[in-house]
Amino acid sequence: MKVSVIGGSGYIGLVTGIGLATHGNDVICVDIDQKKINDLNRDILPIYEDGLSALLAKAKRKNRITFTTSFKSAVNQSDIVFIAVGTPSGRSGETDMSHVYKALSSVASAMNKPKTIVIKSTVPVGSNQVAYQIVRENLTQPHLDFDIVSNPEFLREGRAVKDFMEPERIVIGSKSSSAIKRLKRLYKTFDAPYVITDPTSAEMIKYACNAYLATRLSFINEISEICEQVDANVLNVIEGMKHDSRIGGHYLNPGPGFGGPCLNKDIQSLIHFGSCADANVNLLRAVLSRNNVQIENILKFINELLKKSKVSRVQKVAVLGLSFKAGTNDTRNSPALLLLDLLKNLDVQIAVYDPVVQSLPPDIHSNIHSNLKFAKTPYDAVENASACIVMTEWDEFKELDLQSVFNLMRYPAIVDTRNVLSSEHAMALGFEYKGVGINGLKPIEEQEILKHIV
Ligand code: UGA
Repeated sequence: MKVSVIGGSGYIGLVTGIGLATHGNDVICVDIDQKKINDLNRDILPIYEDGLSALLAKAKRKNRITFTTSFKSAVNQSDIVFIAVGTPSGRSGETDMSHVYKALSSVASAMNKPKTIVIKSTVPVGSNQVAYQIVRENLTQPHLDFDIVSNPEFLREGRAVKDFMEPERIVIGSKSSSAIKRLKRLYKTFDAPYVITDPTSAEMIKYACNAYLATRLSFINEISEICEQVDANVLNVIEGMKHDSRIGGHYLNPGPGFGGPCLNKDIQSLIHFGSCADANVNLLRAVLSRNNVQIENILKFINELLKKSKVSRVQKVAVLGLSFKAGTNDTRNSPALLLLDLLKNLDVQIAVYDPVVQSLPPDIHSNIHSNLKFAKTPYDAVENASACIVMTEWDEFKELDLQSVFNLMRYPAIVDTRNVLSSEHAMALGFEYKGVGINGLKPIEEQEILKHIV
């Protein structure tokens, strides 16, 4: 089918465009960012996503995909137009819909024949109806027929290609049976169940999913803090929980708090439109405030360590990991950056190391710390440090030679906010070790747990 993707050089738009081209459709990715379009025409991707560049090369070889800034001709040539532009947070947590509205009115004025307009961007409930009005009011040929469909995405950064190519469900929200048929035809080569529903419920599905994942994370982070206070080991607790098929083990790794461009933003939006609709959103508010507690707790612990280890006037803290999770170079809303921001109030030097992030966004760097240096290796970062804080669960950190780290540090203390190191090994070497939800009790073997379950 002939498809255009508006916002086609952004994260979601690009993966959607390349994914649909891989499935045999003729795709035009449209964007106002001329540089990104030029780069894409020269095979330079603006994001790193495993497998994406190979799929792009293949789609180009088969002439299935093109990139352009020319809106009108792209829309004219397509039967289906995807809207995949950004929906950032506004000042009070509401979703800023300006890019979506602009894209819709531009599509409307470019339309020359009936179209199916598919909203991929994450938009507050009710947006489908507003979108219909915007297109209707901006049509240059007022009698043209069109449909608006909600088709939310569930792509995780670092796994976006896999999530797109092997979706666990395809949600289609529309009141038009012909639009639903068209979308089903578009997705017919995908092996996934359809959830066909009304547009408002489709919009709500996306928010409910992200809010549920965030709720699990805040829940396990809170359980972790209780574990620390009562001397239980959260890893053992999780082991005992995950075998319950009603619970399962996903999204139960405690950490420094959830980050990234989506979870926070979407919950804030859900709180905003939920409370505007007079719903009680206390649980969602608690999920967000619990998330903020994580980083405060980490800072409290670093402060305690620095007091204990006062071996020289200016102390050094090593921060390992800057991206909001492993597998991506994205630092948006990363707990590591929040920590750096808090550390600026302490009189410390900071060494940071991340395997893929080699610099901080300029606005953040100037705000954060004049005493901050990038290290070339994790070992350079920890040299002479009084605390080593692991903020991202990169494999490289799981494989650290702790004996060398011990020898290099001025005061051997590790704050492992992802529980990626062996607490036993670290403590046996003489480290002061602090995980999340772990006070140094031995994690029990999986076999041992299973023995008790059977
Ligand atoms: C999230 C959702 O998982 C996707 O389904 C959704 O499509 C996407 O947002 C979006 O709305 O576009 P993503 O932001 O890439 O995807 O990140 P996740 O993998 O969900 O992780 C979110 C945060 O939770 C990260 O900071 C991660 O480190 C943290 N996390 C995740 C934990 O602390 N523990 C876990 O067990 C899992």
